[in-house]
Amino acid sequence: MLNRRNFLKVAGTATAASALGVKAHALKTIPLEAATTIAANDHIQLALIGAGIQGQGDARTAVQVPGVKLVAVADCYNGRLDHSKELWGNDIFTTRDYKEILARKEVDAVLIATPDHWHKQIAVEAMKAGKDVYCEKPMVHAHPEGPEMIEAARSTNRILQIGSQRVSSIIYAKAKDLLASGAIGQLNMVSAHWDRNSAMGAWNYTVPLDASTETCDWDRFLGNAPKIPFNAEHFFQWRKWKAYGTGVAGDLFVHLFSGTHFITGSNGPTRAMATGGLRFWKDGRDALDVLLGLFDYREGFNLSLRVNFVDGGEESEGLVFTGAEGTIEIGYNFVTVSRVPREKDPGLMIGTYAEDMQKRIRDAHHAKYPPSHPSGPPASGFEKYVAPEGYRDSYDHFSNFFASVRSRKPVVEDAVFGYRAAGAALLCNLSIERGEIVKWDPDAMKIL
Ligand SMILES: NC(=O)c1ccc[n+]([C@@H]2O[C@H](COP(=O)([O-])OP(=O)(O)OC[C@H]3O[C@@H](n4cnc5c(N)ncnc54)[C@H](O)[C@@H]3O)[C@@H](O)[C@H]2O)c1
Repeated sequence: MLNRRNFLKVAGTATAASALGVKAHALKTIPLEAATTIAANDHIQLALIGAGIQGQGDARTAVQVPGVKLVAVADCYNGRLDHSKELWGNDIFTTRDYKEILARKEVDAVLIATPDHWHKQIAVEAMKAGKDVYCEKPMVHAHPEGPEMIEAARSTNRILQIGSQRVSSIIYAKAKDLLASGAIGQLNMVSAHWDRNSAMGAWNYTVPLDASTETCDWDRFLGNAPKIPFNAEHFFQWRKWKAYGTGVAGDLFVHLFSGTHFITGSNGPTRAMATGGLRFWKDGRDALDVLLGLFDYREGFNLSLRVNFVDGGEESEGLVFTGAEGTIEIGYNFVTVSRVPREKDPGLMIGTYAEDMQKRIRDAHHAKYPPSHPSGPPASGFEKYVAPEGYRDSYDHFSNFFASVRSRKPVVEDAVFGYRAAGAALLCNLSIERGEIVKWDPDAMKIL
């Protein structure tokens, strides 16, 4: 069943629990929230702009939401327009020119999954044409585009949702609840990473055999990027160049920022410092393959981020929230909480003193720290919450988007949230470029 909102809670699993010295308990299923259904009287007619890897995946997910129909597709490569018809039928309108999509009256909403350097331009034009917009992350390619997009959403009164699907994830919602409930005490640090060790992971996507200026609309792909002769790698592996992509910061850090901001409720960092290098994939790219970022949050915690495309081992991703009394860890389809509360009795180191002194110290100590706590021994333990098999946060993110399209109520991830994540991520590129710490006003969303 889609959109299931229940968790399998695994309390005190054998391995983790025994490591912490707590007893294992039976598995329990805890329903978190009733499934939501959207009234499906009329279809929302959706158009896809940018039918590549993510666009096709997104559109497949989007049409599974009741009451949503894909009616048109724009892309700059013929092979992807052809495949769109294979996927969604010959009745689908296809074009190389997204403006033809925006001119079509029957299109209610557009899904933008082009390279990053097109997001703002197409989103703003779409909203001005009266369309609601789901725009993939990172919301922007460069900082000045953020305020423009926020303003366009405001002035046109269109629904604009950014595509960091973790903001709709039941796993992240659980982590948010755990943190708010005080499960790990006062948060002091968040560390997150996204490591890869493969050609695909390093963005070396397969170039089709027929790639040419016949099959690819090179000028339209370039848009405002510097004019250079046709280059199939630039077209199909655009993430490797700053002219089109935002580096690992915009591609991957942005997810970690969205997750961190969603869970902590923070608007973003006040200072950012990044370093890194091109360590392995020296194939002509100008984007780095190793990036480290450090950030100050005025809520009293630090964030550290890492992406390594040459990690020499297993690919992995995850976030760890560290508090004074435990940690919350988020993995692919689970969240765990480990609690080791701080000692209530600070302990004594007095055996070398004379006995009378030992007694006097012990009495004074116990007057301050009673040996038995009225509330019993401090709680400690380990819990793991696992999403149901097949759970997809992207389905929930689309479901939330279409619910807002129908209700006209605010989206789960609006342009301000999207820019606070993308703007923070782009500080890394700026820090590397300038070789210094960059200051950011997370409320006003301005570089200082
Ligand atoms: N939310 C996520 O988890 C997630 C995952 C992957 C990618 N993304 C985002 O999705 C976007 C697309 O990434 P991708 O991996 O699918 O790239 P891709 O290269 O596979 O697809 C991009 C497509 O856009 C087309 N295109 C380029 N310029 C266009 C234009 N002006 N008009 C219409 N089509 C145009 C290209 O022909 C290509 O087919 C990126 O911004 C990326 O960051 C998000």
